[in-house]
Amino acid sequence: MDGNNDAPAPSPLRPVQNGSELPEQLALHGGRPVRRTPWPTYDKGAVFVHTEDEDAAIRAVRSHLYFRYDHRPANETECGRFEDELCRYFGTRHALAVSSGTAALALALMGAGVPPGSLVACPGFTFVATPSAIVLAGCRPFLVEVDDDLRMDLDDLRRRWRPEIRAVMVVHMRGFAADVEALSAFAAEMGVPLIEDAVPALGAELNGRKLGTFGAAGAFSTQSDKALNCGEGGFLITDDSTLFARAVALSGAYEGRLRRHFPHGEPPLTGLDLPLLSLRMDEIRAALLRAELTRLPQRLALFHRNYAHVSAALAGLSGIAVRRPVAPGAYLGEAFVFRVPGGDAGWFARALRAEGIDARNIGADDDLNVRAFWNWRFLYDSADPGEIRATLPRTARLLTETVDVPLSSNLTPEDCDDLVRAVRKVAAARETALVGS
Ligand SMILES: Cc1ncc(COP(=O)(O)O)c(C=O)c1O
Repeated sequence: MDGNNDAPAPSPLRPVQNGSELPEQLALHGGRPVRRTPWPTYDKGAVFVHTEDEDAAIRAVRSHLYFRYDHRPANETECGRFEDELCRYFGTRHALAVSSGTAALALALMGAGVPPGSLVACPGFTFVATPSAIVLAGCRPFLVEVDDDLRMDLDDLRRRWRPEIRAVMVVHMRGFAADVEALSAFAAEMGVPLIEDAVPALGAELNGRKLGTFGAAGAFSTQSDKALNCGEGGFLITDDSTLFARAVALSGAYEGRLRRHFPHGEPPLTGLDLPLLSLRMDEIRAALLRAELTRLPQRLALFHRNYAHVSAALAGLSGIAVRRPVAPGAYLGEAFVFRVPGGDAGWFARALRAEGIDARNIGADDDLNVRAFWNWRFLYDSADPGEIRATLPRTARLLTETVDVPLSSNLTPEDCDDLVRAVRKVAAARETALVGS
C-alpha cells in the first residue's frame, strides 16, 4: 500500500474574510479546475505496458508464426503456453484463448449446451456485450434488477424465475464481485449452469477465491482497458472438459487440432461435431499477454492501492453513496462508482468533467451509454426509452443516479488526490446550493 493513503485530502472549502467558509467556485461556473492535465485512460495511451511486453510481441512478429496452430507442439506456442499459464494462475483444468470477451461468453454458453432459444438471466446493469453474447449464442437475455450496490438481485431473479431460463450469467460489473456464491447456489438449485462474465474483474477475488472460478465457466476480455490488455482478445476458463471441448471446437480448432488441447487423453468429441466460428486468439497477442501476465500482481496491487485511497477518502461524504463491495476487498478497483441519491447525477458528472475528471452519469439522457439497458434497442420492440426503463424500474432509477469514473492502474497518488478533491468540491457546492434553495 502507498504511504499517501493516510494523507488527509485537502478541503474543497476556502476560508473567506468573515471567518465562515464558502465552497470553491466550480470550474463549471468559471472557477479554477482541480486539474488541467487529461485524466489517464487507455484511449489516451495510459496503458500498463513494460518494454519487455513490447519485446515479446516483436519477437512473435519476427517469428513469422502468427497462427496459433502450427508445426510446433502446443506447449511451445504462445497461445498454448498462455493457456497453460492461465490454468496455473486460476487453478483450473482448462483455459482457451479467444478473440474477445464477447466470444468467450458466447462460447461458454454454447459449450455448456444451453439450447438455442433459451432465456439466459443476466443483470440489468452490465456492458452491452453481455446481452450481445447471449444473442450470439442463439439465446434470449432475461434482464434482472440490480440492488443498491448495482449487483444482480437474487430476490428479483428468484421472484421472476421461469422454466425457459436455462442459464444464469452473472457479471462482476466495473470490477465489483457479484454475490456469486449465493447466485451459483441458486443456479444449482434450479439445475442450470452459471457463467461468469468476469471481463471487468480479471485477478479480483471474493473471499480468497478468484472471480471467474465460481461458475461452470468464467469469461474474460483482454481488450484495451482490461487488467491484461492487447487491443482485442479474451479467454475462458473451466474445469468442465465437455464444455471446454465444445468451446474449442466452436472457436475453430479444425482438422484434429482439438486434440492439441487434450494432451493427456482423447477429447470427448470431434472437431466437426459443431460448426466452426473462427474466434481464435493469435500468436502475437498471446506473446504480449504472456509477458503482461508476469506483471499482473503488481498491476493488481496498483488498482487496489488507487481504489483504497479514493474510497477511504470519500467514504461517508455527505450527498453521495459510494458503491459497497459484497465482501471486504472483493473488487478489482478499475472504477470509482457512486450514486447521487435524489437524481442530479448528470449535473454531478458534468461538474466533475469540468474539474478535469473523466466522469459519466450512466443513465444520462444526453449520453448513449451502452451500460444503460434502455439503450439496448436490439432487445426491445419499443423504441421508447421510457417504456423500456419501466421494465426494470429500480435499475433504471439507480443508473440514473450513478456516476462512474475510470481508475487506470497508471494513476498516481496525486491523480487520486485530484479525484478526491474534485468529488469533495462538487459535493460541497451541491450541498450549498441545496441548502440555499
Ligand atoms: C461486462 C463486460 N462484458 C463483456 C465485455 C466484452 O469484452 P470484449 O470487448 O473483449 O468483447 C465487456 C467489455 O468491456 C464488459 O465490460
